[in-house]
Amino acid sequence: MSSEHAADASTTSKPVLETHDLTKRFGELVANDDVNLRVNDGELRAIIGPNGAGKTTLFNMITGALDATEGRVTLDGKDLTALPEEARPHEGIARSFQSNQMFEDETVLENVRVVVQTAQAGSFSLDLWGNGRDLGVTTADEFIELVGLGPIRDTVAKNLSHGDQRRLGMAMALATDPEVLLLDEPTSGMSPAETAETADLIEEIKQEYDLTVVLIEHDMDVVLSISDRITVLNRGSILATGSPEEIQNDQDVQDAYLGGVKEEI
Ligand SMILES: Nc1ncnc2c1ncn2[C@@H]1O[C@H](COP(=O)(O)OP(=O)(O)OP(=O)(O)O)[C@@H](O)[C@H]1O
Ligand SMILES: [Mg+2]
Repeated sequence: MSSEHAADASTTSKPVLETHDLTKRFGELVANDDVNLRVNDGELRAIIGPNGAGKTTLFNMITGALDATEGRVTLDGKDLTALPEEARPHEGIARSFQSNQMFEDETVLENVRVVVQTAQAGSFSLDLWGNGRDLGVTTADEFIELVGLGPIRDTVAKNLSHGDQRRLGMAMALATDPEVLLLDEPTSGMSPAETAETADLIEEIKQEYDLTVVLIEHDMDVVLSISDRITVLNRGSILATGSPEEIQNDQDVQDAYLGGVKEEI
């Protein structure tokens, strides 16, 4: 796992993805409460926090999977709040595809190629398996190689291991040509070796495609090694944002979340 994380030269102070007083209520439950997130161009931002803190709900509002109860989401200053989920990839927001969003009876190559062609055409209406079929293959292969699935590009998605499905999900997200990539616990269920590989892969794709990455992650080794900055969410609110060092030394964060684990990290 690479150790040169902070003060990445590609990180600027230009905000790309911002949330403004973003709030989500499920009945009485306030899952996100006035969240003001500001992620800069080229940054790798981790979002951490206890189970139920509201991390996935925040992603869901950023991608449009859930409507915000209040507040706004902007990308490069453009208000996306009212845009439906399917329109947001065209604006530059992508989240890693889940296995249930794949064509499970199609190969790795076909899954990525369909996303490439859809992104290029801006719609699903074109003949994806017909005459235009070969057009996206070269581009798709590039993403497939990058995530390490080259040798099994012709394997059907449902026969992939859990870790390889996650890699495929990442290749499909990259194929939408995003500006901001959202990853929700990309290492969950992975072995320590796969986890380290995935952390390296995230850094690699960020560099290769000049991405801004927002990463929800429970593995503190991953978080501390690859993040430029970390935001701690607790009970739906931002408790702190800072460098890995600042977050490790923050007393509020210690009390609310890291607790006794500091000695281990
Ligand atoms: N669709 C929903 N309807 C009702 N309550 C929900 C819904 N989605 C999330 N919640 C609740 O909102 C709160 C925040 O959930 P969320 O999934 O965002 O947490 P999280 O930080 O991602 O947790 P984890 O680390 O376990 O993934 C939780 O109390 C959860 O039960
Ligand atoms: Mg979650």
